Amino acid sequence: MAVQISPSILAADFARLADEAAAVPNADWLHVDVMDNHFVPNLTLGLPVVESLRKATSTPLDCHLMIEDPDRWAPPYAEAGAGSVTIHAEAAKSPVRTLREIRSLGARAGLALNPATAIEPYEGLLGEIDMLLLMTVEPGFGGQKFLDMVLPKIRRARDLIERHGGQIWLQVDGGVDADTIERCVVAGADVFVAGSAVYGASDPAAAVDALRSQAER
Ligand code: DX5
Ligand code: ZN
Repeated sequence: MAVQISPSILAADFARLADEAAAVPNADWLHVDVMDNHFVPNLTLGLPVVESLRKATSTPLDCHLMIEDPDRWAPPYAEAGAGSVTIHAEAAKSPVRTLREIRSLGARAGLALNPATAIEPYEGLLGEIDMLLLMTVEPGFGGQKFLDMVLPKIRRARDLIERHGGQIWLQVDGGVDADTIERCVVAGADVFVAGSAVYGASDPAAAVDALRSQAER
């Protein structure tokens, strides 16, 4: 599958989100980090912002829900027009029902795993998802250092996905930059979230292009 780049607006200027979205017209997705100060020790944005952003950009929204009770909250993000809604395995109590609901509302369904969460207990959910997100930092903040310890899990995930037919996208999120993206590609990831590496650059669109060509080498 072709490489996809999903800039994280967590590293953008929240007062100018429409402009920040427009600054990366070459992005495949806009990654929207929803945090509730319970699942992670940080608070960001929620549904009203996603609803407004949906109208402000034609780039599809890749909503990453770092929240408690995703079973209750994920479907409204799909209803708000998110192209992809990802819930955390550690937080979902009824992942099968929730993932099916996300899909039935027309969005792609994603399952996220923290760095220390093993993939094997969730193998049975592969038939319910369109994307697996492997966190390469502890969720909660941008600008953290990439965790190399996740690389073997990315390789195992790629194997599992191939055995499952190869349709599921494998996303990595956290500390992805021009240096670390290569390791992720080699391990088998194909969708790359990048916050500081894109919005911390003087030319965010050029940073997206650079990440893409780095990943396609
Ligand atoms: C972290 C978020 C990430 C974050 C990545 O909890 O899920 O999406 O924005 O930021 P960088 O790319 O700066 O590590
Ligand atoms: Zn994220």
